[in-house]
Amino acid sequence: MFLCLHFNQEKFTMTMRAALGLWVLSAVICVGRGHHQPDHHLGHGNDETGQDTVADGSASSISLVNEANQEFSFRLYRQLAAHADSQGKNIFFSPASVSAALAALSVGAQGETHRQLFSGLGFNSSLLTQTDVNQVFQTILQRANNTSQEDASEGTSVFVDNRFKPKPEFLQTLKQSYLADGFNVDFTKAAESADTINKYVEEKTNGKIDKLVESLDPNTVMYLISYIYYKGKWETPFDPELTEQDDFNVDENTKVSVDMMNMEDDFYTYHDRDLNTTVLQLPFKSSYSMLLMLPDVMATLENGISPNHVTKWLKALVTPRRHDVYIPKFSIKTSYNLNDVLTEMGMTDMFGERANLRGISEEQRLAVSDVVHKATLDVDEAGAEASAATGIGITLGSAWFPDPVPVLKFNRPFMVLITERNTDKILFLGKIVNPTI
Ligand SMILES: *[C@@H]1O[C@H](CO)[C@@H](O)[C@H](O)[C@H]1NC(C)=O
Ligand SMILES: *[C@@H]1O[C@H](CO)[C@@H](O)[C@H](O)[C@H]1NC(C)=O
Ligand SMILES: *[C@@H]1O[C@H](CO)[C@@H](O)[C@H](O)[C@H]1NC(C)=O
Ligand SMILES: *[C@@H]1O[C@H](CO)[C@@H](O)[C@H](O)[C@H]1NC(C)=O
Repeated sequence: MFLCLHFNQEKFTMTMRAALGLWVLSAVICVGRGHHQPDHHLGHGNDETGQDTVADGSASSISLVNEANQEFSFRLYRQLAAHADSQGKNIFFSPASVSAALAALSVGAQGETHRQLFSGLGFNSSLLTQTDVNQVFQTILQRANNTSQEDASEGTSVFVDNRFKPKPEFLQTLKQSYLADGFNVDFTKAAESADTINKYVEEKTNGKIDKLVESLDPNTVMYLISYIYYKGKWETPFDPELTEQDDFNVDENTKVSVDMMNMEDDFYTYHDRDLNTTVLQLPFKSSYSMLLMLPDVMATLENGISPNHVTKWLKALVTPRRHDVYIPKFSIKTSYNLNDVLTEMGMTDMFGERANLRGISEEQRLAVSDVVHKATLDVDEAGAEASAATGIGITLGSAWFPDPVPVLKFNRPFMVLITERNTDKILFLGKIVNPTI
């Protein structure tokens, strides 16, 4: 505990490799020393956490943050789907990654900037302090790390410019609560730094996201990353021999040819009358599962879906029934700059002159230059692989019919969600409009 709390700036200014060694080691020390809670006298670099809260990631804070995260998933989805440049395109992202990155940023935000981030993430500041949120993310990320096998990982990291000195408390909270890896880089060498960040993300996402950062603002002093990777095998795999070319109806006038997988078996399905949507649950050989939602009318589903629906479906998906299921094999990649979307969700100040990131540095005027998000989803007979990463650049300046067997064919746009059974956490969310693009 002692070592962990007395992390200091000198040790931070090391080469990237050495710094990784140090940070991982000190993370082991923090975790290895058991159940000590972070000392809330440390200060959290924001002015709303002055009170002496019992910071224990308590059950009520956990459920408040989980509910907020689920609500945030669908608000962010709708905002992305409404964007002009999303029309006719697949949507896929990781709400869990975006909210972890923004929550980590909120550690360093104060005043109105902090209020907007909190409210944008759906945290009710009369019920939750930043310390509570940090505690809950620590619990969530530790749980993800504890249960992780080689096929699932989730985490955060922070890249800091050699000459920039963020407040030690800020880095301490990121390391302790967000389990962040820390690195020093020379952001004046923009291409080299971007390369370093991209290699890190590529490694963390098993090669799926190799270029999170396209270009770095020359004034970048710090870069926050959150990544998530999941690879699961279906509990019951599809038989590749049954996969055949078939049509997928992108819209009334457009058909594309896809490799359509097929299986007749007992499946967990539910028909939601409110949304005129049939939901299919495909469990992985783990506590994770994928929900595929086939609506009559996409807009009814997209505009109506809420965490309550997902909870209702997961509860209702208990009696398997025989179905003849068809799902396309596909592999998609998405890329977003979230500046506009987050601004539209009320998180405006962090991007401009009004940004208050004094929890990161008092001396320098900091602002967020870019929030980027990239994600991938590959679905085949054996299983699914999904990855996502969020990057936040900080710059200076500123989830029965026995006979005949019903057919469930995902041959028109559908939505998809990857969730974890025990927590209902939404790891990934998206809409497949055209599996061939
Ligand atoms: C995550 O889990 C790994 C392997 O179980 C462990 O070595 C590592 O210390 C954990 N990391 C944190 C930050 O808890
Ligand atoms: C926040 O919680 C308080 C106390 O339960 C409640 O009165 C208030 O309406 C909530 N605010 C929002 C925005 O949900
Ligand atoms: C994760 O594992 C560590 C070390 O085994 C344990 O102290 C901690 O309570 C676990 N955390 C969660 C959230 O399961
Ligand atoms: C659901 O489908 C039924 C029958 O096709 C239709 O009458 C109803 O308006 C639809 N509901 C919604 C919300 O689209």
